[in-house]
Formats: sequence, C-alpha cells, structure tokens
Amino acid sequence: MFTINHIKLETINSTNDYALSLKDSIIFREGLVVTAKFQSGGNGQRGKVWESSENENLLLSVVIEPEIELTEQSLISKIVALSVCDVLKNLGIDAKIKWPNDILVANQKIAGILIQNKLKGNYITHSVIGLGFNVNQGVFKAYSPGATSLRLLLNKEYDVLQIQEQFLSFLTARLKRFKKGENQDIEYLKSLFLIDKPAAFESKNKQFMGIIKGVSEIGKLLIQLEDDSIAEFESQQLKYLF
Ligand code: BTN
Repeated sequence: MFTINHIKLETINSTNDYALSLKDSIIFREGLVVTAKFQSGGNGQRGKVWESSENENLLLSVVIEPEIELTEQSLISKIVALSVCDVLKNLGIDAKIKWPNDILVANQKIAGILIQNKLKGNYITHSVIGLGFNVNQGVFKAYSPGATSLRLLLNKEYDVLQIQEQFLSFLTARLKRFKKGENQDIEYLKSLFLIDKPAAFESKNKQFMGIIKGVSEIGKLLIQLEDDSIAEFESQQLKYLF
C-alpha cells in the first residue's frame, strides 16, 4: 500500500506540513509517504515542536483515506499506535500507548504520533499520519516524560529504513483489518498505559487519583474516580502525573 509514492527529503520544516501542502494534487492519495532526514520545525502535539537529531530517527508522514466520520477519528490513532507497538514487540520491547498518541517504553517516550485530517463536512477524506520514532539518538533534552530511543534501550544502532519498512507493513496490515470493520480494541486496551492501575492525574488545576478503564467511542479517556463514577477526558484537559 505504501509503495506507490514515496517522497524522500533531506531537510524540510515538517513532513506533515509538506504532505498537507500537496492536498490539492493528484498524488495526495492513500499510500503517499513523505520522509525526511531532518525537520527544521517538526510539529508535535499541542503546538509543541518535535525535535530530532539529523539522520538518527524516523520522521515520516503517510496519507490514508480512512472514510470515517470526524467523531471516529480516534480509530485511526489506535491503529497507528498499535502499529508502532508491533514494531517494538518485534524487537522484543514491551511498549505502552500513553493515550492518545505517545508510545512509551519503561515510562519514557520513544515515539509520538500527530494526525492531521482533511475534511469534507464531518467526514475525514484523508488523514496525514505523522510519526516521529526515536531510533539512534543518544542524547535528549530533559522532556517530561523523558525520551528514549531504540539505541538507548538495546545498546545497538538500527537501520532507520528497516524500522520504517516494518512500521509501514504493520500499519498496512492493521489498516486492512480496520477497513474490513474489524475492531482492534482488545489489543489496544492491552497496550494502554496505566490501564486498571490507580494513578495520579491533573485536570483544570486539580490533582486527583483515578483508574484508566478505557477509551470512549468518540475517543475520550475513561477514568474511574474515587467515588467510582466514570469521568471522560479530552487530551487537552488531562495531564498524567507520573
Ligand atoms: C508528539 O508530539 O508526540 C507528536 C510528534 C509527531 C512528530 C512527527 S515527525 C514526522 C511528522 N512531521 C511532523 O511535523 N510531525 C510528525
């Protein structure tokens, strides 16, 4: 699926922005892949910058045509996050999905996902899936959560291209299952960070304890509170305290 159009860039501000800049062209179709060795202004979640040393990590954007309503967009982030976990599992690493879009290994972030959609009304015609996956970088700034890479975890250099191919092949498999209508929630919940464990959170400047129980149909995190009620959170409303 991701072998039709692959634009390989040396340096670009952001592979997601580059892919989105093609949105009115005929190559903006499911299967388009844009990669770069360096981004001068990579987009992270919540308006942050995604920093990545030149040539060391996977910086990739792919276009898919999910054919779903905007309210169902969390389905895309679930299969993308699971595909990143598949790559790590294949290398013997147990990764967790910190809802909605962070991939953690031993509480440290190894990959981040940023999905930007092209809409027609309330319908997602195209999604640009951006993935930053730390492969060989050895030193990171003091982020919260802290960052890690394959090299730091396994003490060995990896071929970024191989990681890219593996990700694309796992994503292709999961997308096919998704398009057949198969629900991948059981796998997702197994990989969900802190599920069923008491944990501390912060929302609207208040700290509280709760237990993650899952994700709602429209993609909100479900947390059981101390009075046993279930509260729903959007990602901007919630901070994990760990
Ligand atoms: C996050 O903040 O965790 C999401 C990071 C997503 C970064 C990737 S790198 C490739 C693609 N291009 C971008 O500008 N961002 C995504």
